[in-house]
Parts: sequence; C-alpha cells; structure tokens
Amino acid sequence: MAIKIICHMITTLDSRIVTARWDLPEDFDISAVYENTAAKFNAQGWIVGRTTMSEYADNISEHDPSLDKFVSRPDYKGAYRDGQQLAVVFDLKGKLAYDGCVLPTGEHVLAVLSPAVSDAYLATLQEQGISYVFTTDDENTMLSEALYRIQAMYPHVSTLLLEGGGTINGSFLKAGLINEISLIVCPLLDGAASVQNFVNYHGDPDPRPGMGQRLELLEQELFAGGTLYLRYQVCRD
Ligand SMILES: NC(=O)c1ccc[n+]([C@@H]2O[C@H](COP(=O)([O-])OP(=O)(O)OC[C@H]3O[C@@H](n4cnc5c(N)ncnc54)[C@H](OP(=O)(O)O)[C@@H]3O)[C@@H](O)[C@H]2O)c1
Repeated sequence: MAIKIICHMITTLDSRIVTARWDLPEDFDISAVYENTAAKFNAQGWIVGRTTMSEYADNISEHDPSLDKFVSRPDYKGAYRDGQQLAVVFDLKGKLAYDGCVLPTGEHVLAVLSPAVSDAYLATLQEQGISYVFTTDDENTMLSEALYRIQAMYPHVSTLLLEGGGTINGSFLKAGLINEISLIVCPLLDGAASVQNFVNYHGDPDPRPGMGQRLELLEQELFAGGTLYLRYQVCRD
C-alpha cells in the first residue's frame, strides 16, 4: 500500500509559516502544540524540503553541491535502529552536510538525492550511516518514485508527516500525493507577501496545483488562546 502523506503545519491566520517572525504569548509553547498534535498520527517519520532541514539543527550545514552526470547507483540503507523515526529530506542536489545519521531529536536521516550527486558526497553519507534513495528529476514522477523507494527500504513505513516548508508541500499537492491536511492556525497575522505560505507551488499556476482535489473536514478543535485545529481529508475524483 502507498505511504499515507499527512501535511502537518502550523500557520498564521494568513497562512504564513515562518514561526521565527511570530510574537506569541509567553505561555504559548509552539513546539508542544505542534508535536502533541503530530503524535496522534503514529507516523513512522516526517518529510521536509532542503531549506527546512538546513534550519533544523546547528549540526546541519549547507554547501555548494558538486553535481556530475547521471549514473545509476543503488540506494543505501544506513545505520537505522529499529523503531527510530525517519527524517526524510528532499535535497536532490546534495547541498546538506550532517555530523551523523541521528538528529538531536532522535530521528534517522534519510536523504532523497538525484543520481547526479558526486561519489564523494555519497561516501560521506555512508561513513555517517545516513540512508539515501535516488529519484528522477522528472517533476511528474520524482516524489512518487522517492516514496516507493523509501517504502522498499523501510517496509514498515505506512504514514509520513509532510512538515514543510511551503515549497515541498506545493510539489506534493501538485503531484496529488497529499492524503490529509492537519493544520494548526494561530491567531496571528504575518502580512508580508514575501513570506512563504504553507503550500507554495513554484511552477506554472495553471492548471491549478490543487485542481481536482476537494477537502472534506474530518476534525476541528479550538485550542487555548484562540488557536484553531483543522484536519481535512484530500479527496480526488
Ligand atoms: N510553520 C511550519 O509548520 C513550518 C514547517 C516547516 C518549515 N517552515 C518554514 O518554512 C521555511 C522554508 O520553506 P521553503 O518553502 O522556503 O522551503 P522547503 O520547502 O523547506 O525546501 C524547498 C527546497 O527543497 C528542495 N526540493 C527537493 N525536491 C523538491 C521538490 N520536488 N519540490 C520542491 N522542493 C524540492 C529544493 O532545494 P534546492 O533549492 O536545493 O533544489 C527546494 O528549494 C522555513 O523558514 C521554515 O522555518 C515552517
């Protein structure tokens, strides 16, 4: 069965997602609200884009990638311990450097790469025990191919949380791969046009990336302080 993808995000009322810009009340623990809500899905891990991962921890840094020609190479299962959550990062060009295969929050890093990354980059990931799978650069198949390979490597994976940012979420929406939206809406306005929304597809606006995808409300809850929780199923005809 295909991996169920639940897009789990926290936003302002105007859908902006850069939490560092928010002036929240001191008693509002944003990570607790986000993580406690995520926990109920019993997912086996989460997915983020390269930009979000680069900000995730101090021991992750970004470099200019060195890309080569496309060569077919096998996927690599790193030093995964049973029961660990997966932290899947779409970093096709191989820009990110890590200092090990475990994040400070305990997840095992799994990178989704282009087959054009250099042998030297792959050797470093292997030394660190980081798992990786390759995917195509064809927008139509890139994400589904990656999910297929992740499940082939980790057959216990049935649900992953898609945790942003807006760019990777937009690509998943366009590919019709989001099964549910789980949204925490804070009573705040950002207001800046240049700040990312929770779904930001960067390709052609037409056909509409969300076309043919209806949302059916599954759950709603009012949290303390006027924060709203909304969960929708994405239905495709
Ligand atoms: N409020 C929340 O819940 C929440 C959650 C997560 C993140 N955030 C915030 O979101 C911001 C980052 O969001 P973002 O939209 O700029 O970046 P993003 O979605 O985190 O990352 C985008 C990058 O992912 C890589 N990528 C690889 N395959 C891709 C594909 N198929 N489609 C799209 N991207 C792909 C590309 O890297 P290359 O450019 O290297 O090709 C792309 O530029 C951060 O400020 C973060 O704090 C907020």
